[in-house]
Amino acid sequence: MKRIGVLISGRGSNLGALIAAQKDAPYKIVLVISNIEGAYGLTRASEAGIATKVISHKGKSREAFDGELDMALRAAGVEIVCLAGFMRILSDGFARAWEGKLVNIHPSLLPAYKGTQVHERVIAARENQSGASVHFVVPELDAGPVIAQATVPVHADDSPDALAARVLAVEHKLYPEALRLLCDGKVTLQKGLAVFS
Ligand code: GRF
Repeated sequence: MKRIGVLISGRGSNLGALIAAQKDAPYKIVLVISNIEGAYGLTRASEAGIATKVISHKGKSREAFDGELDMALRAAGVEIVCLAGFMRILSDGFARAWEGKLVNIHPSLLPAYKGTQVHERVIAARENQSGASVHFVVPELDAGPVIAQATVPVHADDSPDALAARVLAVEHKLYPEALRLLCDGKVTLQKGLAVFS
């Protein structure tokens, strides 16, 4: 059983999916940290009996904020950290300290469409396919090796919200599956590559 920490900033629907999947999964979420007070994901965690913590980033250097995250995660005995709608860029030091044990979900088919405003850009580029990726986190933003992806069609008349909802639905299946692979040791980060066994 791997002990999981989840970092969030908002509604936490992916956190909800990870919680729902944990009853027959090789992991247990032991701590949810939000940098935003009142984030709805905190309510989801509390309702599931999971410990929560708010650590604000305001008025702190990136390193000081990340140092507090690190301390809280280690104090809770966390082994793997999942970013789930966590809207802060982590320092290189944090990413290195958790290398191979830090994953994120991003609403595009990485390496395409890193960063923000993904769905707007996908629609503007008239793509006919988009999707979601779970990837190892490395210092460079959204650049880590991909663990798992799921695709969705993009319709000609899609709004960013409609596309976001379609992508989100597959995220909720993809994240628990990818986390299971990681917890079971079926995927590891080796020399900057995701290696499957
Ligand atoms: C998701 O689309 C995820 O891919 C991105 O942020 C969004 C978070 O949504 N990183 P939620 O808070 O999990 O509902």
